[in-house]
Amino acid sequence: MKVASGYMAAKHLFVANEIGLFEKLAGKPATLDELARHTGVPRRTLRIVADAMASLGFLNKQDGRYRNSAAAETFLGGGPGTDLRPMLRFMNRLRYPHWVDLEAAIRTDGGHTKWGQMTEEEQRIASEGIAAWTIPTAAALAADYDFGRHRHVLDVAGGIGDFLVALLRRHPALAGTLFELPHTAAVARRALAGKPELARIKIVEGDLFKDPLPEGADAVIIANVVHILSPARNLDMFRRVRRQAGAGARLLLVDFWTDPTHTEPAAAALMAGEFLLFAGEGDVYSAQEVQGWLAETGWRPLEHRPLNGPASVIVAETIA
Ligand SMILES: C[S@@+](CC[C@H](N)C(=O)[O-])C[C@H]1O[C@@H](n2cnc3c(N)ncnc32)[C@H](O)[C@@H]1O
Repeated sequence: MKVASGYMAAKHLFVANEIGLFEKLAGKPATLDELARHTGVPRRTLRIVADAMASLGFLNKQDGRYRNSAAAETFLGGGPGTDLRPMLRFMNRLRYPHWVDLEAAIRTDGGHTKWGQMTEEEQRIASEGIAAWTIPTAAALAADYDFGRHRHVLDVAGGIGDFLVALLRRHPALAGTLFELPHTAAVARRALAGKPELARIKIVEGDLFKDPLPEGADAVIIANVVHILSPARNLDMFRRVRRQAGAGARLLLVDFWTDPTHTEPAAAALMAGEFLLFAGEGDVYSAQEVQGWLAETGWRPLEHRPLNGPASVIVAETIA
């Protein structure tokens, strides 16, 4: 029953985020009447979503007052640190509607291809939502992998640059290039404006399957991109990156790599539906599958290490 009613929990959480419930409660408990005034939401319907959030532990309700739980305050209250509000907005506005089509996609080998076809607002919501999700992974990579050996990192399909910002912040001698589709690059320029790391980041617009990739990097990051592509297109991508990479360059593949059965980590097995629906040809792949593709395309897999949550990194280097 918990799984079957999961859509109710998810949608209540999305709506609570959209109406700013956690922000209004940040640092101060409030009654239903106060919350109705602050959010502009009718009291009767506000109570339904607020009580749902209390039943799931996102809020505490005591003596007629609601307060944020520690997790809601930290991640959804709008304070400094990890902010997951853009991720929930992305899930609510763009991803949840696609899941209505899961049955059809499964029955027909279908799905949508969204990249490059979103409106400006959808692109911003998608890119900011993905970044909110991946910032902690970027921080883990910056801390756990030895970037001391590298001078220049190319982030292929690097979103709005959250990986480059985390790496360059921690490693002052490093420079970076962000390679992205024009629509995403436009969001990236706005997101990076004013950040000191931008002085060491070059943004190059292009389609990785049509345009030449920038040369000169000794480390190439491909994060959360393999899962939006079919096996054939991944082989093509690895070959293209290999053609541009100099001798001794390293490839860092960050993704939800699974075990050989595709069932662990469990979060990755569920995400496979997301990648099918949102990217049309996407899926989750096992570490063994991707290591095989690397060997076929001129890369030698070196190691596979955990990052945070279900994300991990496979490191490879060019074969001479
Ligand atoms: C799931 S997001 C990952 C973003 C980023 N690497 C991260 O982990 O935060 C996939 C990215 O691939 C980009 N992308 C998709 N197809 C592309 C293509 N053909 N060429 C370049 N970038 C592409 C999208 O614009 C999107 O930002």
